[in-house]
Amino acid sequence: MKLAPSILSADFTRLGEQVRRAEAAGADYIHIDVMDGRFVPNLTVGPLVVEAVRRSTSLPVDVHLMIEEPARYVQDFVSAGASILTVHQEACRHLQATLGDIRSRGSRAGVSLCPATPVHVLEEITDDIDLVLIMTVNPGFGGQTLIPASEEKVRRTQAFLTAAGCTAELEVDGGVNEATAAGLIASGADVLVAGSAVFSGDEIERNLDRLRRAVSVAAR
Ligand code: DX5
Ligand code: ZN
Repeated sequence: MKLAPSILSADFTRLGEQVRRAEAAGADYIHIDVMDGRFVPNLTVGPLVVEAVRRSTSLPVDVHLMIEEPARYVQDFVSAGASILTVHQEACRHLQATLGDIRSRGSRAGVSLCPATPVHVLEEITDDIDLVLIMTVNPGFGGQTLIPASEEKVRRTQAFLTAAGCTAELEVDGGVNEATAAGLIASGADVLVAGSAVFSGDEIERNLDRLRRAVSVAAR
């Protein structure tokens, strides 16, 4: 299992330090949530912050675009240092072309699905993706509660990818904490994104440890 702390819940007055602590504590990716105030109501950060995170860590930088018409910004985010660039299926008219563009510019291509979007929309793009991001809350804000149907959707997504012979990583995002992590991994998730569960209380090291322990205890 991989853990991807989302900086959405980090202390932005000392972002570099928080990212370095997450890396030292064993994080696998650094997840950055980009929101445009249109695809989702919230507004967050752009390529400048991706570039700052890129310079703060040697980990893969995992950029989640919750923006309309993401194709317009692929070059900007790849240049800023996104190792993985994920677009929303719901926001992207020519999804297959956009995924190809991300790969040809040198990043790994991800596609994300909102809770109401069925898994079968992935059917025609299994050759074009390196990562699938299943939203386990409605995107827009950190600190929400996992939607109960999520585990079942993760299970169906993993079964779909396996049947298609697709080796894309399966990442889940939203409401991941000590209580929900093990069930998501048991359902087939490869990567857990966690914001509030990692950065709350300025206890990054202990929080990451707790998440890992919750999963390994349940696996026994
Ligand atoms: C939600 C974002 C998430 C968010 C997760 O729209 O995509 O990455 O930071 O936050 P938590 O882990 O607090 O639910
Ligand atoms: Zn995210």
